Amino acid sequence: KVKAAVFASGNGSNFEAIMKHEKLACDVVLLVCDKPGASVIEKASSYSVQTFVLNPEDFESKGKYEEEILIKLEQEGVEWIFLAGYMRIAGETLLHAYERKIMNIHPSLLPAFPGKDAIGQAFRAGVAVTGVTVHFIDEGVDTGPIIAQEQVEIFPEDTEELLKIRIQKVEHVLYPTVINSILLSDKME
Ligand code: GAR
Repeated sequence: KVKAAVFASGNGSNFEAIMKHEKLACDVVLLVCDKPGASVIEKASSYSVQTFVLNPEDFESKGKYEEEILIKLEQEGVEWIFLAGYMRIAGETLLHAYERKIMNIHPSLLPAFPGKDAIGQAFRAGVAVTGVTVHFIDEGVDTGPIIAQEQVEIFPEDTEELLKIRIQKVEHVLYPTVINSILLSDKME
């Protein structure tokens, strides 16, 4: 199986959904986290996934921070990167080393509502439909080629909290599914 790393900054529910998938087509060998103390770190330990926690503030530049990550990724033989609530824009060091090998999940129908708090943005905008996007990343904020999207309806009596629960439910099924289909089609190429 190919080796993959998950990058996350927060709670790690998507990390956990990936780990729980019964027939994941890769081995997640590393969690990269930029937030010391984030809940996802404990989750990784509970799945016996090695964690690599780095605080970007300890580095003089994004390039230096990413070089350190890159060394670790290469040591571990990581071929794919899945961003799962990694709240940081990848720089050219990572993008260049992992061209078309970094996927991201975002809680809106991109290009609508990029950036932070996409669920709140959609809720406040009063749209009837939002959703989830899985895409390859590029140097932009939640831009890059879209791989898959799924719609989530916003009901008149909805709350932001309920919407978030429904969106994350969709994420937890969509992300591992898309990861598998991309890895399988990559293998056939
Ligand atoms: C997820 O909803 C993910 O789509 C979002 O952060 C959340 C992380 O939750 N990502 C972004 O907004 C990226 N711009 P989790 O830590 O429970 O997986």
